[in-house]
Amino acid sequence: MKKAKSREPNAESLNPLKSKTILLGVSGGIAAYKACDLASMLRRAGAEVHAVLTANAREFVTPLSLKTITRNAVHCEQFSGDGEWRPEHIDLAQKADLVLIAPATADLIARLACGICDDLLTTMILASRAQVMVAPAMNPRMLEHPATQHNLSVLQNRYRYEIIPPEVGEVACGDFGAGKMASLETIMATVGARLLSHRTLAGREILVTAGGTREPIDPVRFIGNRSSGKMGIAMADAAYARGAEVTLISTVEVDRPYPVLLVETAQDMQEAVETEFDNCQALVMTAAVADFRPLAVSEHKIKKTESEDLLLELTKNPDILDLLGRVKRKDQIIIGFAAESEALLTNATDKLRRKNLDVIVANDITVPDIGFGSDDNAVIILNEDGSRENLPRMPKRAIAEHLCDLLAERFAALEKPKSKVPN
Ligand code: PMT
Repeated sequence: MKKAKSREPNAESLNPLKSKTILLGVSGGIAAYKACDLASMLRRAGAEVHAVLTANAREFVTPLSLKTITRNAVHCEQFSGDGEWRPEHIDLAQKADLVLIAPATADLIARLACGICDDLLTTMILASRAQVMVAPAMNPRMLEHPATQHNLSVLQNRYRYEIIPPEVGEVACGDFGAGKMASLETIMATVGARLLSHRTLAGREILVTAGGTREPIDPVRFIGNRSSGKMGIAMADAAYARGAEVTLISTVEVDRPYPVLLVETAQDMQEAVETEFDNCQALVMTAAVADFRPLAVSEHKIKKTESEDLLLELTKNPDILDLLGRVKRKDQIIIGFAAESEALLTNATDKLRRKNLDVIVANDITVPDIGFGSDDNAVIILNEDGSRENLPRMPKRAIAEHLCDLLAERFAALEKPKSKVPN
């Protein structure tokens, strides 16, 4: 077992936006000059800032200024033609915690409302699943125009973008009215409220398992399964983003700012989980653990010439959840997963009860393109009190966010003082 990285402290008070990645989109209005101050404030609050400039924005502010302030490359061209096969900006769009567009011109707002992606910024916004915040800035008559009002309403009500309302005042062209970009303090407060309201698991110790175990047959071969680790990694990332002290026990190597314990077999995983379990407040077991392993592991590669048939004798692996369900304390929460190909609810409910779990997440692995290996899943969350929630197909990260909400509610319930019965 290998510890991949030591834990970084959650220095929330010093760097409230630490570990947050913000994509700062800048479009071409006079308020673009304020983007440098905004980038600097975000960076000083601990955020990793990546600026994306439209062609018109570059008339007002240079990529060099933003590159120097953000200490990151500034992205301008959709077709740069250099770098890796997978453009870096697509990765950025996918890993951003927040997309903040400041200033957002009437033209950019109109293109976003129509889903047009004719430059790098609009393409990245469409490719991202992060919350989008828009700080409009324009001439008051342009803002009042029904087309702009309609477009803003589409962004807000249909796409759930958060609009940071422009202020009333004298705008650059001398006109007076609503259209000045919100103050940088207002933008910072809105960003903070959005990103920090999610720190609902701050300080909670959460143990997550990910991936499929491998049971060796000989030095070359193993019995494995189709788990990619994506669900468990999404769960660990989501909990960490909410301020939890996460430990991930994984069969898949990943580089993360929280500790990752690399394991291979079910027995390795059992040892690691048992060592960490006492110190955790919640265990989320997404790993697909092999139920059986070869009774004997051949020291040398088994030769196909040895015989026509190869009979493998298997022995049962420990059921990690079953063991921990028996010793779990009242202040600990255990969430299991159930991968079922038939009788989904019956089998999942049986596992929930038998293993003494608080929650089980049931997934039907016969549905194509979800579950094992894919980026999406569709699940039914079953609680020990018999209640359940259906989550239709969605990204695994979105399922993880639901589970984080559920954990936060359960922690709060555990801490609620019990009402005293009068004598
Ligand atoms: O990794 P991905 O590609 O993203 O895929 C995600 C997933 C499909 C693997 C995940 O969503 C999932 O369903 N994980 C559980 C898979 C599984 O092993 O289910 P099970 O029904 O066999 O086990 C029930 C529970 O007991 C699981 O939480 C499992 O971790 C646990 N278990 C199982 C066997 C065992 N020996 N020890 C255990 O602790």
